[in-house]
Amino acid sequence: MNTSELQKVKQRYNIVGNCDELNHALDVALQVAPTDLSVLIVGESGVGKEIIPRVIHDNSPRRREQYLAINCGSIPEGTIDSELFGHEKGSFTGAIGESEGYFGITDKGTIFLDEVGELPLATQARLLRVLETGEYIRVGGTQIRKTNVRIVAATNVNMRKAVSEGKFREDLYYRLNTIPIQMPPLRNRGNDILLLFRLFAMQMAEKYRIPKIILTDEAKQIMLQYKWPGNVRQLKNITEQMSILSEKREIDTETLLQYIPRDIESTQLATTNKPGQHSYESEREILYKILYELRGNVSDLKRDMNTLRKQLDEARGLAGAAGFQNPTFQDTEAAKFPMVQSGHHEPSNEIAEAEAEEIKDLEPETLNLNDLGRLMVEKALERNGGNRKKAAQELGISDRTLYRRINQYGLDKQKEK
Ligand SMILES: Nc1ncnc2c1ncn2[C@@H]1O[C@H](COP(=O)(O)OP(=O)(O)OP(=O)(O)O)[C@@H](O)[C@H]1O
Ligand SMILES: [Mg+2]
Repeated sequence: MNTSELQKVKQRYNIVGNCDELNHALDVALQVAPTDLSVLIVGESGVGKEIIPRVIHDNSPRRREQYLAINCGSIPEGTIDSELFGHEKGSFTGAIGESEGYFGITDKGTIFLDEVGELPLATQARLLRVLETGEYIRVGGTQIRKTNVRIVAATNVNMRKAVSEGKFREDLYYRLNTIPIQMPPLRNRGNDILLLFRLFAMQMAEKYRIPKIILTDEAKQIMLQYKWPGNVRQLKNITEQMSILSEKREIDTETLLQYIPRDIESTQLATTNKPGQHSYESEREILYKILYELRGNVSDLKRDMNTLRKQLDEARGLAGAAGFQNPTFQDTEAAKFPMVQSGHHEPSNEIAEAEAEEIKDLEPETLNLNDLGRLMVEKALERNGGNRKKAAQELGISDRTLYRRINQYGLDKQKEK
């Protein structure tokens, strides 16, 4: 592949980076695009796997046909077969009409199966058949249908392990993996880290209409050495946080280290306050303090739920409910049950837990800082019965700043007492 062709693709899809592994991944994508071969994109979370299937489809003879991206992990097990392969009228409760299913709709096009490792085993069997013969049967049907769909799949789980654990069919894995494309983790991309930082800093400056942040030479070294467990997504989020929250536009080592989590201990803010007294250096620190407190509460909740789940499972086992299984027992279901654990569930923790509950569905890395700021102000007002003076004191900010925040977050309808 010549460099100018690669350059064009990068420009078209806004892909930044020039390391060999990324270039190789794009190169393979362009080479297999004109064929009908199945492609499996593998790589850690946040490395940019979702760009590849689009590149493949747009550079294939199918480019004018349908392209459908499906997140296999987000479709409930009970409906996934009917969503993918369609169903006949009356085939299950609620199946009022017939449905064509994604494989019918996308005939002649491309389907991107994201998080393919999450597919239930029964669906894997149907998928294998489509891949091998182009044939499928709708749920509740008998008629064999034909479809001509190109499959591109992606996963961030170790598929070999999933196969050895019996969670993924070996024959399907080999069939999907005809052409593997490996997306490199960010930590292996060298100088691309700084190029990506520049891209995101520019995007944030435009998005929020603020001056662009830049890095000092020492800060650049830290960026290059950091392990980036959340990869490009994490770099993007951290650049966004710094763009909004840092008072300085030139990010030095000290500032950067406040945003890069090295380990749990070092991310906790040191509190030097006397009991009952709040003194924060800046609003940014308040935001972070609250963020870490909420994170802590979320972790506590998750731990409690796990304990609760174990207790329930044990209880079920003791009750002799043979064959009873609840593998998809979710946090949300656990939340319906009262907390039965003793320990740190003191009444004083209830407010914090309720607050954590509100944000527990949000991943910390995608936590919207605007939401966080609003939540913080809202809760302070609630705790102080709507008294703005007291709320401002508690937050350690001036009355005027609080008024500004209330307007900004549209909380002005809240009655002052
Ligand atoms: N080379 C790149 N240039 C510009 N942006 C990138 C690049 N790689 C990734 N991104 C951006 O990083 C974010 C994460 O990428 P993406 O959603 O594709 O990750 P992923 O590999 O699918 O992760 P997951 O396995 O968690 O779904 C996206 O906003 C994407 O646009
Ligand atoms: Mg993804």
